[in-house]
Amino acid sequence: MSGPLVLALESSCDETGLAIVEGGRRIHANVVASQVALHAATGGIVPEVAARAHLRWVVPVMDEAWGAGGVSWKDIDAVSVTYGPGLAGSLLVGINFAKALAWVHDKPLVGVNHLEGHVYAAWLLDPDEPEHPEPSFPLVALVVSGGHTFLAEMRDHLTYRLLGQTVDDAAGEAFDKVGRLLGLGYPGGPAIQRAAEAATARDRMFPRAWLGDSFDFSFSGLKTAARRIVDGARAEAGLGDEPDVPLPSPLVAELAWGFQDAVVDVLATKTIRAAREIGARSIVLGGGVAANAALRDRMTAEAAGLDLPLVVPRPGLCTDNGAMIGAAGARRFLAGERAGLDLDARPSLPLATR
Ligand code: KG4
Ligand code: ZN
Repeated sequence: MSGPLVLALESSCDETGLAIVEGGRRIHANVVASQVALHAATGGIVPEVAARAHLRWVVPVMDEAWGAGGVSWKDIDAVSVTYGPGLAGSLLVGINFAKALAWVHDKPLVGVNHLEGHVYAAWLLDPDEPEHPEPSFPLVALVVSGGHTFLAEMRDHLTYRLLGQTVDDAAGEAFDKVGRLLGLGYPGGPAIQRAAEAATARDRMFPRAWLGDSFDFSFSGLKTAARRIVDGARAEAGLGDEPDVPLPSPLVAELAWGFQDAVVDVLATKTIRAAREIGARSIVLGGGVAANAALRDRMTAEAAGLDLPLVVPRPGLCTDNGAMIGAAGARRFLAGERAGLDLDARPSLPLATR
């Protein structure tokens, strides 16, 4: 493979990621330091704590990736970095580190939108992975993460038309909140998946918000319904007045399954309908919730039924990482984009417009 060799940094939320990616596809190194254990203690991310952890980890992560990449600075064509959306303090650590590297080594700097990174993870190839075809345009991209839920049409590289987005909570946020409600800890997504896999009873129905023909999503009603259903289940189990006694695990599993099924049903149904409507030639999934096995299985089955190629990165490339920023960064670099050393954090940077 050829194409630009990009060193990429990601620090928008709670993972410090640094990667070296060739041609927007081939991963040479990809190191992620996760802060999950740190934030589990508070049941969620405290921005100041996250920023300090990025500062603590960015140099060791760089050292490890550099060691694994087997490249030297003369081989690197550009430095790319996430500049939004995300937590301001967290973004600033990656941005300033990237600026310093670009300045010291006299390399072009390329700013990348974090959400675009989640889309471009679909182009990545692991170091020893055989080449497979790139997603074909036009495509429908569903990005489902802790902070965002959007469905976009791409008719070419780096161009997005927003088809739908969440009107309230992001899908991952709903997983995290319901996970907490079920006593499953943080982050809720992987915990709900594990609990749901153990479910033997699979008939507890959670509501779906279809919002008519719109491609928008809403998860706040589902969260409220989950609270009501959990309270009801506690009362049924005789635990209504015992807030410290956890629900029995078969019941937790049943509720986790019902909630997950509702989220997956809405995400998959709308994505498939959008793909049919725009005449998509492929579907791309990304973001932390795309690591969810039930969503992956459902989308795989539905896309196969339509004979539509579905590209979903392996779970470790769905959650935040530096390689996805290298994949998107290479495209932006090839399109001639360059950021100055005045590149600043954009906590609310949008990606697509309608
Ligand atoms: O993309 P990501 O790593 O960070 C953001 O950009 O937000 O996504 C994190 C989100 C969290 O809400 C987490 O609960 C969810 O992705 N998540 C999952 C799974 N793994 C991570 N949700 C459902 N099932 C999973 N297996
Ligand atoms: Zn993300």
